[in-house]
Amino acid sequence: MTQDELKQAVAQAALAYIETKLEDDTVLGIGTGSTANLFIDALAPHKGRIEATVASSEASAERLRSHGIPVFDLNAVDRVDFYIDGADEANRALQLIKGGGAALTREKIVAAVAREFICIADDSKLVHTLGAFPLPVEVIPMARSHVARELVKLGGDPVYREGVVTDNGNIILDVHNFAIAQPLGTEEKINNITGVVTNGIFALRPADVLLLGTASGVKTLY
Ligand code: A5P
Repeated sequence: MTQDELKQAVAQAALAYIETKLEDDTVLGIGTGSTANLFIDALAPHKGRIEATVASSEASAERLRSHGIPVFDLNAVDRVDFYIDGADEANRALQLIKGGGAALTREKIVAAVAREFICIADDSKLVHTLGAFPLPVEVIPMARSHVARELVKLGGDPVYREGVVTDNGNIILDVHNFAIAQPLGTEEKINNITGVVTNGIFALRPADVLLLGTASGVKTLY
């Protein structure tokens, strides 16, 4: 199976996973990226069963609206029942690296609110140690050089993602050569650098379920 077929399979599996749990007033959080896009497309024929969605990026909000799916501001809903999103890397503790699409801050906010975070990914994303994928860090623009120097002190090799401005008006530093043996501690340390908005480690709030697309079918990891 191709990577796209695996992504398609996990998007369908996510729909099947939530379908049995849908209530009349279900609020869905929707992530960002190619796998989340496939989930949005799979959700479209079932939109009548969804009370509301909140999106983790302007791009996803636009795609949802193009299907006629109602999108709300997070402050206009009192809860998010399920959050469905992809990942750049996942380990077996369901800790993630996210932010390859620069949407990490809003993704982290929606994940924080969600009762259940369902991560969908093809099996190329499953790793033993996080960090082969360069870690995205969203930074207030005037703090770029300061944060880069602090990330070097932590042992990483930050690279400015040229030409990218996040939905929040900030910039992204991608930290290369940075094996993350202690995801929880590293997430906290980077969050504590002045000028950092968010980093792409999801360990303080990991996924609850990982639907992993493999050649032998979709596996469910808890
Ligand atoms: C967006 O900022 C990311 O966190 C995505 O969830 C991640 O990059 C996965 O994207 P794909 O589904 O396109 O691989």
